[in-house]
Amino acid sequence: MPELICSNLTKTYGKGMKALDKVSFSIPALGIFALIGRTGAGKTTLTRILATELMPTSGAASINGIDVVNNAGRLRDMIAVLPQESRAVAWLTPRQTIITYLMYRGVGFSEAKKKADSALRKTDMDRFANTLNEKLSGGQKRKILVATVLASGAPIIFVDEPTTGLDPISRAELWEAFKMLKKDHFVFLTTHYLEEAERLADRVGILHEGKLMALGTLDEIRKLVKYQYSIRILGKKDGIKVKEGKKTLGEDGYLQIMTTEKEADALSRRFIKGKIRFSINPVSLEDIFYSIVKKPIREEEGNGKQEEW
Ligand SMILES: Nc1ncnc2c1ncn2[C@@H]1O[C@H](COP(=O)(O)OP(=O)(O)OP(=O)(O)O)[C@@H](O)[C@H]1O
Ligand SMILES: [Mg+2]
Repeated sequence: MPELICSNLTKTYGKGMKALDKVSFSIPALGIFALIGRTGAGKTTLTRILATELMPTSGAASINGIDVVNNAGRLRDMIAVLPQESRAVAWLTPRQTIITYLMYRGVGFSEAKKKADSALRKTDMDRFANTLNEKLSGGQKRKILVATVLASGAPIIFVDEPTTGLDPISRAELWEAFKMLKKDHFVFLTTHYLEEAERLADRVGILHEGKLMALGTLDEIRKLVKYQYSIRILGKKDGIKVKEGKKTLGEDGYLQIMTTEKEADALSRRFIKGKIRFSINPVSLEDIFYSIVKKPIREEEGNGKQEEW
């Protein structure tokens, strides 16, 4: 099975700033892998090392057995990269954008034209083939870049925060493009949007301050947390006691209770009786992410005693 392996991958910028700190993992190089993490977590650094653009300070990484440092040339033929904040050139058309990119990769002109047209059709962008990029919407511009990496025919694709700053509709359009891409590509995607990872990814990695905090399928990641239900309350925050679970007052002003199914059931009955507005959901990637990386304002574990209302 194709595999991506990192062992003790470390990157130090300047004097001692560790952007990656002994990152070790191995995953099947199939479907979509989403690397999530807050700003400065090290996502771009890891992406650039794996895409052979940046040397690690120490450690090693390989994709399908090909070392990213010692065999970078061989790997480059197999990968296409959509860097963070990449933009389609305003004064080119989508068709010209893709043809130029392919020719830059060494594809002949007539072959490049065929591949460009096919990629534009596949991403449903053929109707804009000859419109200037500057006249496209933000989402359409990004879709052109996705069509570009698709046209490359490279089986491994790196996309660094492709949907940052897009409106929800453009983002949903791009998600469709990625879903199509993942059928026959390995897509290494970084994102701030946990919902995006949840919707698209076959596997997720959580990076925080250069360290890999969690890795696995969504189901595997969910099992990392003790409590499987999340209750959120905005409004009343004092005097709510939980028998089994964890109460966290977040920076966003919500009181979050992570708890068991049984306790969630008991609490929701009491909240309804006490006219307390709340939402209840199975634990999401967002809950897990925050329970791993976010410093709450206040946090308490349940004391085993049931409170009466
Ligand atoms: N060229 C550089 N020189 C010095 N420090 C850098 C350089 N590039 C990144 N860093 C630092 O390394 C850390 C990780 O940066 P990186 O760009 O990998 O994070 P990121 O997770 O991609 O963040 P974002 O979500 O904001 O894109 C940050 O603290 C950043 O300031
Ligand atoms: Mg980045």
